Amino acid sequence: MAESLRIKFAPFAAPRAGVLVVFCDDGLRIGSATRAVLGSAAALLERVARIERFKGKLGSALDIAAPAGLKVDRLVVVGLGKPKDLKPFDSLKLGGAGLGKVPSAAREVMMIAEYPTGAMDPEAVADLALGARLRAYRFDRYKTKRKEEEEPPDAVTLTLGAADPAAARRSFVDRAAVADGVVLARNLVNEPPNVLFPDSFARRVLALRRSGVVVEVLEPRKLRRLGMGALLAVGQGSAHESRVVVMRWNGGRKGDKPLAFIGKGVCFDTGGISIKPAQNMEDMKGDMAGAACVVGLMHALAARDAKVNAVGVIGLVENMPDGKAQRPGDIVTTMSGQTIEVINTDAEGRLVLADVLHYTANRFKPRLMIDLATLTGAIMVALGQEIAGLFTNDDKLAEQLAKAGEATGERVWRMPLGPEYDKLIDSKFADMKNTGGRHGGAITAAQLLQRFVGKTPWAHLDIAGTAMGSPQTDINKSWGAGWGVRLLDRFVADYYER
Ligand code: BES
Ligand code: MN
Ligand code: ZN
Repeated sequence: MAESLRIKFAPFAAPRAGVLVVFCDDGLRIGSATRAVLGSAAALLERVARIERFKGKLGSALDIAAPAGLKVDRLVVVGLGKPKDLKPFDSLKLGGAGLGKVPSAAREVMMIAEYPTGAMDPEAVADLALGARLRAYRFDRYKTKRKEEEEPPDAVTLTLGAADPAAARRSFVDRAAVADGVVLARNLVNEPPNVLFPDSFARRVLALRRSGVVVEVLEPRKLRRLGMGALLAVGQGSAHESRVVVMRWNGGRKGDKPLAFIGKGVCFDTGGISIKPAQNMEDMKGDMAGAACVVGLMHALAARDAKVNAVGVIGLVENMPDGKAQRPGDIVTTMSGQTIEVINTDAEGRLVLADVLHYTANRFKPRLMIDLATLTGAIMVALGQEIAGLFTNDDKLAEQLAKAGEATGERVWRMPLGPEYDKLIDSKFADMKNTGGRHGGAITAAQLLQRFVGKTPWAHLDIAGTAMGSPQTDINKSWGAGWGVRLLDRFVADYYER
């Protein structure tokens, strides 16, 4: 993948060129290997730190050009605060922060994976590497002019200096698979909507066959035969016909019920006849981020040979205004037989998911279902862009997802469901309507989805805030964040692999 940097693992050593990155604590203390690598430049560190008032706070950095006593062009010192306060997720952030302090013209970077208290364990070293890879990601395939001082990420080599490089390299293998999944998801979200539409999206997913995923594309004729009236209604105003893509990874025991992951894949959401205002409408190219996450996750599971049976199902449509588009007032019949009155054609994601959730529950009888969707602006009003909304009919699932969220930094916050909300989506003419008014907008959307999951343990993640345009972090500078790939990979690894 072109969007990534090259990563190597080696014993601790002083590099002869490029940039050297080391870590110190909030007392400017460094480890013994770091001290050996720095040699006489260790005194320089203390002197420059004093002049620059660098205190070694977590994530802060000191950048010293042409450091006397070293052959490298620059020495970057990254603070890690108080080592005893470091949380597991911090290694990832430090890898990203460390690389982030390196000027973009550098070709060779050596990072010494050592705390002042001793060498990092192989898992932490591998996390540094993962954090750096995620940080290095860039989506520039449509830029025909590159800034002169900038090296493309794939021309940069990052070497992690480690106590046990072989063990760190082994730990990195699975993480590289996950990183590729995140990159895949980010690329899909960042692609423009004239390039990525239901058919071209589906064709891209076929590439997962190379990693052993069984991919099946359901064409419009098949969707009509299945009776996916709600999903098809959303796409009927578009020149691009709708698709559903089914991905299967069978790494678990034969006959074990699969975990199912479902994604909203609205390749562009104009709002339809209930058209959106022009301001920021371009962001609606990312309304397929749920689907992108599912594709990235399925890639990650296959590439790291996860011992689990998993299915991914994504509903791909484009929501356009047109003479053929659906109207407010239309009543659509879902695959489940339930009818929905379309009050607002901009509440289209729930129409797509209603059919995909029912189809998945019915066909695969999964052990559990998790859907991801950029479903409502209301979830951003509630939670901002830092945390995703979690709705679930299963307390155990809530706890597992919350824990995986803490471990990966992709956090979720549980929101309520309940029969009290049902009356808000009662319709005069059909079984339900597709909007519940201004109040509790994310909840009424989830409440509608719940009507299509039957008794299956199910969780819905409303990622409208976290999937795109979310605040940049040490490990993500991309508009499309690839949010959810690491969360769900961790969820699978920690709770569902045999
Ligand atoms: N895709 C949007 C939600 C969205 C908004 C995602 C902003 C990311 C950023 C969704 O289809 C939508 O339009 N929802 C409406 C629902 C309303 C009409 C009930 C919304 O949130 O305003
Ligand atoms: Mn919409
Ligand atoms: Zn939408």
